[in-house]
Amino acid sequence: VGHDQINTEIVTLTRFLTEEQAKHKEATGDFTLLCHALQFAFKAISHYIRRATLVNLTGLAGTSNTTGDDQKKLDVIGNDLFIAAMRSCARVRVLVSEEEEECIIFDEWPHARYAVACDPIDGSSNLDAGVSVGTIFSIFKLAEGAKGTKEDICLPGTEMVASGFTMYGASAQLVITMKGGSVNGFTLDNNFGEFILTHPNMRIPKKRAIYSVNEGNSLYWEEPVKEYVNSLKYPDEGGKPYSARYIGSMVADAYRTLLYGGIFAYPADKKSPKGKLRILYECAPMAMVFENAGGLAVDSHMRRMLEVVPQHIHDRSGIFMGSEQEVQKVIDVHQKYQ
Ligand code: AHG
Ligand code: MN
Ligand code: MN
Ligand code: MN
Repeated sequence: VGHDQINTEIVTLTRFLTEEQAKHKEATGDFTLLCHALQFAFKAISHYIRRATLVNLTGLAGTSNTTGDDQKKLDVIGNDLFIAAMRSCARVRVLVSEEEEECIIFDEWPHARYAVACDPIDGSSNLDAGVSVGTIFSIFKLAEGAKGTKEDICLPGTEMVASGFTMYGASAQLVITMKGGSVNGFTLDNNFGEFILTHPNMRIPKKRAIYSVNEGNSLYWEEPVKEYVNSLKYPDEGGKPYSARYIGSMVADAYRTLLYGGIFAYPADKKSPKGKLRILYECAPMAMVFENAGGLAVDSHMRRMLEVVPQHIHDRSGIFMGSEQEVQKVIDVHQKYQ
């Protein structure tokens, strides 16, 4: 490679965050430090996932979490890595994790101003097969005078200051967005040990004929969901049916949907009337990414996902998210039933 083809202006996540911080005169650097800790957690989790088969990290831990999932060894390790990163950055007061029944309150940092929710390993049932999994996070700024309790984080997604996820696929892909901002994608360069900005200002295509849903649940679906999915598979005369793609890791299905367009759904149904995916660390952070990329995200009542308020930290919701025109079709079908 000629030296003129070497990019010497590489934008690392660290550089990106420093430049963002410089744009905000009032910024204290706390958020930037929190993100530095976050990215270390992603690098460490990525490392152990890639080593798992070699160092006996496949399989079950022998425990289950509050939402009833059997924990894999890597669920536990990912959770511990994430907690350690959030504790050590000294900027987080309240932490919610899928793998922890209660909120973790960092009393050693009484003046920390952030609350974080995370799904340390999303799609963990896929781990032993080497299929892509991810980590999802949402970040809230604590209200003035917050006491550091679970009430500080049982908020609608509209209150998040940032959210995103990292997908551990062929490479590790980090996607992050800030309130009212654009969506930016970074790829982990293992040689540099840095996340490099590879997907600036991500925009989801307005439409695409791909749907992503666990069709094995169709027996339990409500009528509007059945009608909607059938309309994709059996289009009117002359129409082309949609392609189905379902990995079973929300992060991986969401990342593909973000890049290619289409729709991802995990509806509430007769078996799970509240849905499966959890609001604070699965639905809301993804909804913010999709909205900021020009897409839409709604719950099973066709409410804007970002406005749904969890009553409890592990509350669930149905979700439909993706390209604007694809989600609009879901809304249109549901409206006929109202
Ligand atoms: P997690 O592995 O964090 O518990 O999340 C599992 C979720 C999500 O990743 C995925 O979209 C969904 O469960 C898959 O569920 P089904 O196996 O019911 O399709
Ligand atoms: Mn789980
Ligand atoms: Mn998950
Ligand atoms: Mn998980």
